[in-house]
Amino acid sequence: MASENGCLLSVEALVTGYGKKQVLAGVDLEVKQGEIVALIGHNGAGKSTLLKAVFGLLPVWQGRVCLDGRELELATPRRLLLRGMAYVPQGNRVFTDLSVGENLEMGGVTLPKKRSKEGVERALSLFPALRPRLRQRAETLSGGEKQMLALANALILSPRVLLLDEPSLGLAPLLATEALHRIQAIAQGNNTAILIVEQKVREVLRIANQVYVLRNGRVSYSGSAEVLEDESKLREVYL
Ligand SMILES: Nc1ncnc2c1ncn2[C@@H]1O[C@H](COP(=O)(O)OP(=O)(O)O)[C@@H](O)[C@H]1O
Ligand SMILES: [Mg+2]
Repeated sequence: MASENGCLLSVEALVTGYGKKQVLAGVDLEVKQGEIVALIGHNGAGKSTLLKAVFGLLPVWQGRVCLDGRELELATPRRLLLRGMAYVPQGNRVFTDLSVGENLEMGGVTLPKKRSKEGVERALSLFPALRPRLRQRAETLSGGEKQMLALANALILSPRVLLLDEPSLGLAPLLATEALHRIQAIAQGNNTAILIVEQKVREVLRIANQVYVLRNGRVSYSGSAEVLEDESKLREVYL
């Protein structure tokens, strides 16, 4: 179900921050079903802050966040997960003391057993490299494998909206490109709406449909990602 304009997720005039410090100064953004929206911007622009506010980890000071065209009230991460939103924070966080298999079980912990098992299977079919490592402690995984596990975990609940904060961070260039291709496959295969923050700007523009540039807590540019694949245009709006 999407809203009248087809948007699954929309952020309207969002203002938020930490304590007394305002970070976002009125951000508007939309993500449609099956669409990848890239959020780029320099360090400290407020990209992670935006994802946190959308996922209910920060209070919305002004403006609103809508899912299916309806305002999210009393938005807590738990409620949002149940309504089909998932969030993978920056820094491939997994439960390091648990095995890969146990991590995946945690990902589906809110589901009935059968659906949880199906979810784990689906996630493993997207990330087959995890299968031989099910009994391995997550701590011993490489950075790339941890990132795959964090993504796999987020997919177990079959989210309709996926928020990804720098999924390629710390990955070698080839692995980063591969990770982004998998993310594209998730959007195309499952019709998932994806809002992705990425430092690897040129790479993310290749998989994204729309792009927003955030600068000092405001959207300084938005439009089709294709347009910014032109190097001079990218320089103009980003550098
Ligand atoms: N937990 C926090 N407490 C206070 N200020 C924060 C916190 N997290 C981030 N900030 C500040 O908010 C601003 C935006 O940060 P962030 O959203 O993490 O930027 P980005 O992800 O675009 O690099 C920065 O000035 C940063 O220092
Ligand atoms: Mg960040």
